[in-house]
Amino acid sequence: MTFGQQPIANGFLKPEQFKTEYYFEMACAFCEKCGCFQLLEQPSPEQMFNENYAFFSGTSKHMAHHFAEFAAHVQQDYLSGANDPFVVEMGSNDGIMLKNFAAKNMRHLGVEPSKNVAEAAMKAGVNTINQFFNEETAKQIVAKYGQADAFIAANCMCHIPTLHSVVKGIELLLKPDGVALFEDPYLGDVVDKTSYDQIYDEHTFLFSVQSINYLFGKCGMEIFDVEPQTTHGGSMRYVIARKGKRTATERLKQQIAKEEELGLHLKETYERFRQNCEKSKKDLRELLTQLKNEGKRVVGYAATSKSTTILNYCNIGPDLIESICDTTPIKQGKFSPGKHIPIVAYEEFKKSYPAYAFLFAWNHFKEVMEKEDAFKASQGKWIVHVPQVKVLS
Ligand code: TMP
Repeated sequence: MTFGQQPIANGFLKPEQFKTEYYFEMACAFCEKCGCFQLLEQPSPEQMFNENYAFFSGTSKHMAHHFAEFAAHVQQDYLSGANDPFVVEMGSNDGIMLKNFAAKNMRHLGVEPSKNVAEAAMKAGVNTINQFFNEETAKQIVAKYGQADAFIAANCMCHIPTLHSVVKGIELLLKPDGVALFEDPYLGDVVDKTSYDQIYDEHTFLFSVQSINYLFGKCGMEIFDVEPQTTHGGSMRYVIARKGKRTATERLKQQIAKEEELGLHLKETYERFRQNCEKSKKDLRELLTQLKNEGKRVVGYAATSKSTTILNYCNIGPDLIESICDTTPIKQGKFSPGKHIPIVAYEEFKKSYPAYAFLFAWNHFKEVMEKEDAFKASQGKWIVHVPQVKVLS
């Protein structure tokens, strides 16, 4: 299946860059052998993760809280018995997770390829190296600091085309009893909710329990627990150790059964998913066109990376959505990738409420609703596209 020509999802740009903007064909496929749902073509990592990388994890309060909980869980359940434990995070961004370890003076190391966010982490007192994580990096870390008790990652593993080198690196990095915990958007949620906007250049893969077990099995490791998460509209945390070291939990067995029920291993499931995406596109275009014909103002709420897929797949430009407000300063004053909708400061939204706001940050629904009473009071209405396109009453 294809989502057509797509630009770099986080490539917010200035008008002088429009002419040279990079596009790629965003086609996906399901592999019956390994159970992975993946992009067939992807821009180079350097094109996506560079000094202009516009995604700062620390911009969401809810995510900061989520990572504090994740860190506390790792400390309590997996590090409390260890002597001078050492934890390594891959894709540590601005240090949002690791600062919880740094605050407890725990040995930690962030491995982050984007220079600007890595520098922000270092300024915040989080030990970070500005590199991609792979087998070679793991060897360097072990030589300098010794093996790790825990390897963690959040919303990062699914970004990496050279996954096998990462998994080998994890195996090299971990002590014999060490554990790896990582979470990523979950294929089961994407299929179930038609949240196709989880598919964009950075998300090389959408994982399931089945696919992760296959992948780590190649390096003598296995999943022994899973923890479904509500973040990113539905994620899965996988907990992995060397084979035979830990007992599989009931929760893991139940999740495997659920995946079979959902048909995540069957190619028919993805044909149905494709049809659902096409329907979502049609419904959204019809709704926005109708609102335009009625002369209603529609703005976008939060210039998320996911919004790039929606706007380009559904061919929605400034004629249908006049602007997108966002709290991240580096995005403001720029234009959305591909469709070139102006990105404005969040304050602009509050200054002049539109009739409708398209909630691109639908995965932060609760956090947004809690702070937007005044928009509702102004008779403003929310548009969402997941699980179906609708105007919330
Ligand atoms: P994402 O985590 O879904 O990709 O969304 C991140 C973007 O959304 C980031 O640019 C900040 C923006 N955002 C807002 O502007 N306001 C909000 O209330 C939230 C939750 C996010």
